[in-house]
This record gives sequence, structure tokens and C-alpha cells, in this order.
Amino acid sequence: MTSYQFPGDFLWGAATAAYQIEGAGIEEGRKPSVWDTFSATPGRVLNGDTGAVACDHYHRYEEDVQLMAQLGIKHYRFSIAWPRIVPDGRGAVNEQGVDFYKRLVDCLRNYDITPHATLFHWDSPQALEDLYGSWQSREMAFDYADYVTAVVSRLGDRITHWMTLNEISCFTHMGYAVDTEPPHAPGKRVNSVKEVWQTSHHALLAHGLGCQAIRNASPVPCSVALVDNLAVTIPINESPVHVAAAKQAFPTCGQNGGIIFPALTGAYSSALLEQLGANVPDIQEGDLETIHQPLDALGFNVYSGTYVRAADNELGYEFLEFPKGYPRMHMPWLNIVPECLYWGIRHLSETVGRPDLPVLITENGCAAQDEVNVKGEVFDTDRIMYLRQHLKAAHRAITEGYPLKGYFLWSLMDNFEWAWGYDRRFGITYIDYATQKRIPKASFDWYRECIQSNQVV
Ligand code: FCB
Repeated sequence: MTSYQFPGDFLWGAATAAYQIEGAGIEEGRKPSVWDTFSATPGRVLNGDTGAVACDHYHRYEEDVQLMAQLGIKHYRFSIAWPRIVPDGRGAVNEQGVDFYKRLVDCLRNYDITPHATLFHWDSPQALEDLYGSWQSREMAFDYADYVTAVVSRLGDRITHWMTLNEISCFTHMGYAVDTEPPHAPGKRVNSVKEVWQTSHHALLAHGLGCQAIRNASPVPCSVALVDNLAVTIPINESPVHVAAAKQAFPTCGQNGGIIFPALTGAYSSALLEQLGANVPDIQEGDLETIHQPLDALGFNVYSGTYVRAADNELGYEFLEFPKGYPRMHMPWLNIVPECLYWGIRHLSETVGRPDLPVLITENGCAAQDEVNVKGEVFDTDRIMYLRQHLKAAHRAITEGYPLKGYFLWSLMDNFEWAWGYDRRFGITYIDYATQKRIPKASFDWYRECIQSNQVV
């Protein structure tokens, strides 16, 4: 019998993000982010939902931390809202905004829960969009670094686990080349592929400058990570020829070659550069060195993957379409491919060439069509099925010696799922938005059991 036991020092956690849960949109000095503007624009977010109230976590954080304690997690990943700390994007710091995170972190520490703070999870100040078009401008990277200094110099006594940016490809490639459906904020169409890559290049620069800012401002030694949703290529079967094809395909899948490669190796992948041709972004002297900062861990957000097989064509591989009827969770992109978690980690070691770098799964989870039954319970056995399979893949990665150190489930609770509003529920806690009641789902109990017994149950 296989026992899916995890190492004794494995980190069990859960994740959220500021705009998705906090609410309190205009309270205590916060000013609008691009997501406030985007969601207030008719037709952008499903059902006209906005993050103005969300889970009201800003006022209910104590109750939510108690929920975490009940779950048994010792690690919590959340994000800090730039427009709360520096409401105009640059310049004056709003100490009231800082105080909220002090209260939150002190509360976490009272329950012996380690805070892992993401410094940017998409909610950039609208003021910078108005000033220079956010990530279209190189200035954004420098303003971000100043904001990071403001945060870390004030909270660095309480927080020692920092994550710079969440999923660069989403807030750049999905935000500017808006042939993506549904689009993401700021939802602005630029004129060329090169301009889109320029936005992600600026974000990479922000990451590099952000790492330096964290280390300069932190009063104590701390851990610094990037959070990336690398696109995962998966061999159709694990015979050597298809494994080789999956590795070869990896740099040209999604935005891998222009995001995870420069961040972890200091260079855009040559396969991508060749594909981009004249659309390669402008890279100034010294940029790649700045971007390629030493990291203490990589945060890996993973939900699905792409099957690849060896092919008799110029490339030597081909991406496979999902067949009709392939099982998926409650999102068009959420095909159930549990091996994605294993293969992503293996690619980081073998394909990107960073077997030395500890990996944290910073997000994994799924949306399901949850319903509260007459007894007031939510039996999300479909979510349990999804999570169980992915944790088994995590276990496989560890068993084979890959440096996977922890797992943060997305998400602690249902929340504002960006362009899908409140229609898509990713939580292991159900939120009744009318009453703000928190109802732990069956998956909450299942995950608590996993944590308690340190294995997949
Ligand atoms: C990720 C985001 C996170 C959440 C999940 C479902 O791309 O980082 O905020 O929306 O997807």
C-alpha cells in the first residue's frame, strides 16, 4: 500500500489576495486600483460584480484568522494592496493602510501562523494608469520598488516571507492584449506583440528591483520569492521520447520563455526569441542582471497543464488539444490534469536548470458549483477529488527528490474571482455574500485531516 506521507517539515497553508477578499474599497485612505475602475466599467465583470465589499475581510480578519486556526494551517499567503499603502501610486504613505496589515499579522502570529506576503497581486493604483499607463511604462518598476521599500521598512519586523509579484503573465499579457476572454484589468489593447512583451519585461524589472528593495529595507534576514504560473507541458506518456518533447516544448508554452527563464536564468529563452523575431521587447543594458536576483524560493501557482507529444515536424513536438468531454472543473481553462503539479516542478529542475531552488506551491485549487444543502452543509466532493489528485502529484515530486517544500491551497474562502466576479467559487469555505457567513465546506474538513496527519487522506 502506498502511504502518501509528507516530510515532517512540509509547510501546509492557504492563500488569498487583497482585492479578492478585503472589500473596504475606499476606507482609511485607500484609493482606487485598476481593478476598481475595471469592475466599475459596465460589461467587464460578470454580473457587474466588484470588489467593493468582497468577503469584508478588512473588518472580519479576526474571524478569518480563527478559521485558519481551525483548519490547522501554520502558513498563510495573502497580498498587500499597493493603493492602501501608497494610494497615489507614488509619494505619500498612508499609515492607516499599513496599520491594517499590522493588525492582521499580529493576529496571525497570535495563532502561530506564519505570514507570507505577496507585494503585488494585480491591484495597482489607478493613479499610475492615468499617469503613464501602468506596466506600459518603465517607470512602473521604479514606483513599485519604492512602494516595496515603504512596506518592508514598516512591516519587516513582523513579516519575513516576501513574494514580489503574482503571475506576471496574467496582469500583463492578459491585461493588455485583450483578445483574451474574459479580459483582465486594465483591459487595454496595445498595438503590437512587442508592446505586450514590453509590459511583462517591465514587470520583470519590477521583480528584480523589488528583490533588492526587500533585502535593503528588511531589518532582519528574510526570504524572497517570485510567484509564477508557469505553463506546464506534460508528456502524453512518460516514455523517453515524449518526455524529451515535453521539455523541448516548455520554453515556448505560454509565456515561459520570457518570464520564468529570465527570472531564474538571467536570459530569455533562445527558442522564444527566435519565435518573437522583431517583437522581442527592448531590453536595456543591465536589465537582465537586475531581473536575475538570487531567490530563496519560487512560488508556483498551478491549476492545469498542456499535453505534448513527440512529432515528426520541424519542432520535434506538438501541443495536443483537449478532446471533447475532457473532465474539467468550473472554469473553461480548468481541465483536470493532476500531473501538472509534478511536471511543473520537474521542469523547473531539469528544463529551466534550477534543481537547487526550493519550490512552494503558492496556489492550487479549483472552482466548483457549490450549493448549501438543507442542513446548511456544502458537500464539494468534486473539489476533494481534484485536490487529492494534485496532492498525490506533489507527493510524487517529493518522493523523486525534487525540492518541493510547501503547499498553499487556493483558496481559504470563496472570493471575487476577477472577471468572473462572485460567480466562481474557489474556496474551501463557502461565503454567503448576503450575510457574510462563513461555512466550511467538506473540503475544509478533508484538508484539515491531511494537515493533521501530514499525508493525503
Ligand atoms: C490565479 C490567481 C488567483 C485566483 C486563481 C483562481 O491565476 O492568482 O488570484 O484568481 O487564479
